[in-house]
Amino acid sequence: MRPRYLGGMPRPTLLMLHGFPHDHALWTEQMEGLSDLAEVIAPDLLGFGTGGAVPDVLTMEDYAADVKALLDARGIERVVLGGLSMGGYVALAFLQRWPEGVQGLLLINTRATADALDARAAREATAMEVLANGTSVLARAMLPRVLSEKTRREKPDVVAHVRSMMERQDPRAVAAAARGMARRPDRSFLLPGVRVPALVITGAEDELMPLPTSQAMAEAIPGARLVVIPGVAHLSNMEDADHFNYVVRDFLRMVSHP
Ligand code: MLT
Repeated sequence: MRPRYLGGMPRPTLLMLHGFPHDHALWTEQMEGLSDLAEVIAPDLLGFGTGGAVPDVLTMEDYAADVKALLDARGIERVVLGGLSMGGYVALAFLQRWPEGVQGLLLINTRATADALDARAAREATAMEVLANGTSVLARAMLPRVLSEKTRREKPDVVAHVRSMMERQDPRAVAAAARGMARRPDRSFLLPGVRVPALVITGAEDELMPLPTSQAMAEAIPGARLVVIPGVAHLSNMEDADHFNYVVRDFLRMVSHP
């Protein structure tokens, strides 16, 4: 049985939001490695994981509202909120609408800015492609971009896990998310107003979210810490779960004992 209290303080709830096109299985190593320090909740964002019909477009606000409904249903008022990449976009949408529900913020391999015009057009092309041909083409194209060369060489189990997670997503969910990401606003303006402990984590080799992106977020948030994990790319929590969990454990202890 997990302790409900940590040194006299209640264990925080750690809500981890996956990226695109993933599901809750992105967080397998965190569910196992952090649950002594926090109640870890890793939901499937709308349409991901189990699939099912979704609208043509799901915005970051839609996902955030769905996550809020989940917390309300469980009677959870405050969480340490973490999101990787698209999950980070959702986390910022949640923070904007329900700042009082956030007791700590973890921004992982993500950015606060909006898409450039050419990136928006590419999102629609992705949506059309997966609806026409399924997700395996997308998975093949993304794999070398989200995992570092070292991970691909040394961790075949991680490669297989990521490939199968991407391939099993419902094309309708993937298309709706791609269109929703294209529509997301710049939320950089929120960062200087963050009043809770914040940790920005990225991979030294993340080409999708280059280092200056994370540096800018960490500099904008008062008191935030930036951790750059060497040898990993976009899926830092899976590529080097030990290092990732080590820094998040430190962060959780700090949030629990401010
Ligand atoms: C993700 O990992 O969630 C995506 O790379 C985010 C994006 O395409 O902007």
